[in-house]
Amino acid sequence: MNAGLNHCTMPRHVALIMDGNGRWAAKRKLPRLEGHRAGAEALRAIVQECPKLDVRYLTVFAFSTENWRRDPAEVNELMALMRDYADSEINQLQENGVRVEFIGDLSRLDNGVAAQLETITRETRSGDRLRLTVAVNYGARAEITAALRHLAARIDKGDLDPDDINESVMQTHLMTADLPDPDLIIRTSGELRLSNFLLWQSAYSEFEFVDTLWPDFTPEVLRDILIRYPNRSRRFGANGK
Ligand code: IPE
Ligand code: IPE
Ligand code: MG
Repeated sequence: MNAGLNHCTMPRHVALIMDGNGRWAAKRKLPRLEGHRAGAEALRAIVQECPKLDVRYLTVFAFSTENWRRDPAEVNELMALMRDYADSEINQLQENGVRVEFIGDLSRLDNGVAAQLETITRETRSGDRLRLTVAVNYGARAEITAALRHLAARIDKGDLDPDDINESVMQTHLMTADLPDPDLIIRTSGELRLSNFLLWQSAYSEFEFVDTLWPDFTPEVLRDILIRYPNRSRRFGANGK
């Protein structure tokens, strides 16, 4: 048996719920912000690793619609971190052929943050080695609700017949309309839940839950998970082989 990486059966689209920054910091008696900073470093290394593993799409959960419930000071720090990270990473992302896009409602973000996220999207548009989608102020229920509102408005205008709504029409109204569904969703820090991430898109995703806290999630941890991935049998409801 070849125990090495089998590129034919690697997941094309990996999604990551990057959880555990706060606990990582608490273990070191550091402020939570230091955990988020270390988490941003961890993401940099993972983004560089993905093209080497034939992962073409990487989608990461950075801030949920529910994360506004946190202490406002932490929310502000997270926003500033995202803005500075986007600013400092542009060159490296361009050099590595990474195209960056965002899903989520960016209209609630501060102008400076939203502008910087738009800049990184524009400046990395031609990247063709990895499509990195960052979920910011993203919630799957909000996404599905917005899709329904859009469809209802089209029906109201006489633009769409309700009988013509099917799964692919729904899919084209989601924020991930031009992305394939994630093959593999990884959540760090030992939590066994989706926390409102990609509810529609994860219908047939494979899952991996690891105890590693996000700042400790290295390319080696990712490789170990991907090496085991080809052992899975994805049946999509059909007979097993
Ligand atoms: C993930 O780490 C980052 C965000 C949700 C923004 P957490 O901040 O949730 O870390 P824990 O879960 O408190 O350890
Ligand atoms: C999920 O983590 C959201 C992100 C990783 C951005 P949370 O830490 O917010 O999730 P819960 O609250 O533990 O479910
Ligand atoms: Mg958490």
